[in-house]
Amino acid sequence: MREHAVVFAVIAHFINRRLTPAARRLQEYFLALVRKHHRKTQDPRPKTSGAEAPAQAASRRLPGGLSIKPRRRTLLKVYPLKAKGPETVTTPCPSDRLRHQVLEELARAARWLQHRWPQRPQVGMILGSGLGQIACCIKPQAQFDFSEVPGLVPPTAQGHRGRLVCGQVNCLSTIIMQGRVHLYEGHPVHRVAFPVWLLRRLGCRLLLIFSAAGGLNPQLHEGEVVVLVDHINLMGTSPLVGLNHSELGRVFPDMSRPYWPPGVALAQRLARQLDLPLPAAVYAGMRGPNLETRAEYRFLRRIGADVVGMSTVPEVIAAAQVGLPVLAFAVVGNMCLPDALGRMTHEHILQATQQATDRLTELVRRLLTPQLLELLEEDRP
Ligand code: HPA
Repeated sequence: MREHAVVFAVIAHFINRRLTPAARRLQEYFLALVRKHHRKTQDPRPKTSGAEAPAQAASRRLPGGLSIKPRRRTLLKVYPLKAKGPETVTTPCPSDRLRHQVLEELARAARWLQHRWPQRPQVGMILGSGLGQIACCIKPQAQFDFSEVPGLVPPTAQGHRGRLVCGQVNCLSTIIMQGRVHLYEGHPVHRVAFPVWLLRRLGCRLLLIFSAAGGLNPQLHEGEVVVLVDHINLMGTSPLVGLNHSELGRVFPDMSRPYWPPGVALAQRLARQLDLPLPAAVYAGMRGPNLETRAEYRFLRRIGADVVGMSTVPEVIAAAQVGLPVLAFAVVGNMCLPDALGRMTHEHILQATQQATDRLTELVRRLLTPQLLELLEEDRP
């Protein structure tokens, strides 16, 4: 046992010098082994000769009251465990890695696009399920598939073209994302929000979002367009998880006005000119991809939602982080009345949503004018 104790003591001596948290644990483990063995095999009281000076005896003792009896003379010295200050955390933080990755991808994507379409866009648009035709409001100057653009991933959902169109709507430089990716496609949430950060990085000052939704409010009907004024995030995540950092935008961004109020008022005024009722609505964001049960629709209505969908919320949160005002429109593709719920298909939702394309295209044409930019300028925080 004496030999074992010496070996442990030598190891303890070396690891004692570094004392990383792991080394410290290893050291404690070895010393515990020595103590246990010693207790089993020897008299627990250390035997010191009466002639030995107390200081000399102490120097031959292992921490914990153990002693090593040297044959002749020992060169070993076992250091006691030192009390150290707070330990430095050396584990790399996952959010650092993610942030650097997103920032690099953003820089690469922005360079890629600016090289091919060297204009500063003023407005960005995201067109959801069945609403890709709204892109006919633009005079296109350049078009790219999402798969060509660094950082963008092609959508897999039906009704999402996956094309980026750059050009002019009236006299405003605009980028349109024809289609989007959703959380339910299995992408990490920052991938879903990436187009928003990119549009902001390129210079956009306003984001228009279009999506299909289920109608919870019984006063709505299929094919009706609503303008969003608030949302309830039930997706179980946020695009800012791991990315709540000043290098990307605001930390803990304010969500008291996620949908630009003067823009909502302007859109409603313009819609009246078109005889288009444009009620304000609260959107409940679900992860999907299944539609909801009767009990879930009932619950969503009770907690204050007018419409329900599987998109928009991550994009709006990302826009709030980077200070990009949002105007969001949803088209009711199906009614979600729990006590009168029929069977529903995605094809039905797409068809009902497409009915609103022409009205929404006209609304966009009327909305995107230099006066809109003036309004944005006036309302700058
Ligand atoms: N639930 C969730 N998302 C939707 C629905 C729905 O009923 N309809 C269109 N998008």
